[in-house]
Amino acid sequence: MRFDELGLVPELLHAVSDQGYTTPTPIQEQAIPIVLSGKDLMGGAQTGTGKTAAFALPLLQRILPFANTSSSPARHPVRILMLAPTRELAIQVFESVREYGKYLPFRSLCAYGGVDIKPQIEEIRLGVEVLVATPGRLLDLVEQKCLHFGQVQALVLDEADRMLDMGFIPDVTRIINLLPRERQSLLFSATFSEEIRKLADAMLRSPVLVEVARRNMASETVTHRVHPVAAEAKRALLAGLLKSAEFDQVLVFTRTKIETHRLARELQRAGIAADSIHGNKSQQDRIKALEAFKNGTTKVLVATDVAARGLDIEELPHVINFEIPHTPEDYVHRIGRTGRAGKTGTAISLVSAREVPYLVDIEKLIKIRIEQLIVPGFEPEDDYEYPPSGKKKSRRRASSAETPSARPQRERPAKRGQTSGKIGGRSNHAAPDGFDFSKPYEPSATASLEAGQGVKHGERPRPPQRIVAALLGGPGRKQT
Ligand SMILES: Nc1ncnc2c1ncn2[C@@H]1O[C@H](COP(=O)(O)OP(=O)(O)OP(=O)(O)O)[C@@H](O)[C@H]1O
Ligand SMILES: [Mg+2]
Repeated sequence: MRFDELGLVPELLHAVSDQGYTTPTPIQEQAIPIVLSGKDLMGGAQTGTGKTAAFALPLLQRILPFANTSSSPARHPVRILMLAPTRELAIQVFESVREYGKYLPFRSLCAYGGVDIKPQIEEIRLGVEVLVATPGRLLDLVEQKCLHFGQVQALVLDEADRMLDMGFIPDVTRIINLLPRERQSLLFSATFSEEIRKLADAMLRSPVLVEVARRNMASETVTHRVHPVAAEAKRALLAGLLKSAEFDQVLVFTRTKIETHRLARELQRAGIAADSIHGNKSQQDRIKALEAFKNGTTKVLVATDVAARGLDIEELPHVINFEIPHTPEDYVHRIGRTGRAGKTGTAISLVSAREVPYLVDIEKLIKIRIEQLIVPGFEPEDDYEYPPSGKKKSRRRASSAETPSARPQRERPAKRGQTSGKIGGRSNHAAPDGFDFSKPYEPSATASLEAGQGVKHGERPRPPQRIVAALLGGPGRKQT
């Protein structure tokens, strides 16, 4: 299908073509006609598949009858409200709206916290048709009595499940209660848990569900790799990896703000152009760090999960998990910062003995057995055990002569510039604890409801991929 078959006006098609898009992505193909028809929508698709345009393009067209070039603020009331969980994400959605709407006379604004509210108030007073905001700052603006929602025709909630995780749902509910009942609402979420369903019930009217891939499915264009490594050797291994030719622009994830800050400083001291982004930084510094990373001044950005959702860094080739996330869904979003818009990407995770159970959870969720490669000189702890021992595994062991050793396989001493110790390269569908990769994922704690449409049951996993990576200088070469 081509963009011009979706019923979009020439101004939007022109803007899309300026962006270099030739064909709509599956979520765009399905969602755009639905949104254009005025229906409510609940949408989900893999990371980096153009959800922003899927809602922004048709909504801009929906308010087209009200387009005008009058200078009167009264002629430019808020007509579309888009909510995003993080400031960076709100800014990015706003920038996309500006790009997609550049041939239309609409005014747009991004309102987020951590910066002076006054300029935002002044701009709102001049009239703004498309308002992209984080929930907290939007409510601050409501308290300032400068916002009127009487003309709001459409509401978008992007990354709704993340909003839920961040505790924003009460704020979102307050905002929804301020909006006209007659409106179009769109909700995008990576999961459709019970709580998201409840929110959807309160917010949407007879929504059409568009789900173009299994929930939390990792982008197919990303190649995964694990380096088993002792926890205390991770820093040296990371510095070594970052200095190698394989890596030019890398987003590194850690689990805490403190670790993020500390790691970035250590990398700087090791001569690597690194910076960090986390919730303890001022908003100006967060924006500066992200900009420098996007434009290539900074080679390595160390981040907490604040950067895991939605952020679109053009052609980012690598994501490294310095620590793997403890929630498997977060892995999908972190690595989804690479391999976007059909591009390829690499996701590397440094995994210590203690992290193996989390790795197993991730593998179950994404239904991929990730290849493990030990970098010579950076071996894991002696108690690194993959597959981890457990009752189920013992049972499997008793019944299968082919079960591999519980210890990583170390191959012949690696030649310089090679990695060795390939683990987890079996091509069966069984996980370490007996989990069958060939069956659909069943969430554990927050049970997600079956939405039916678009869920690919019985999907086959991808076979583990052989990766030959030229990494460090060879055995024993430790770097700091
Ligand atoms: N039809 C298209 N053709 C080519 N590139 C596209 C198309 N639509 C969007 N893109 C580009 O794809 C990238 C990802 O888009 P976007 O950020 O909207 O993805 P997303 O689905 O919201 O991802 P996430 O789940 O991470 O939030 C952007 O750089 C965007 O410009
Ligand atoms: Mg997005």
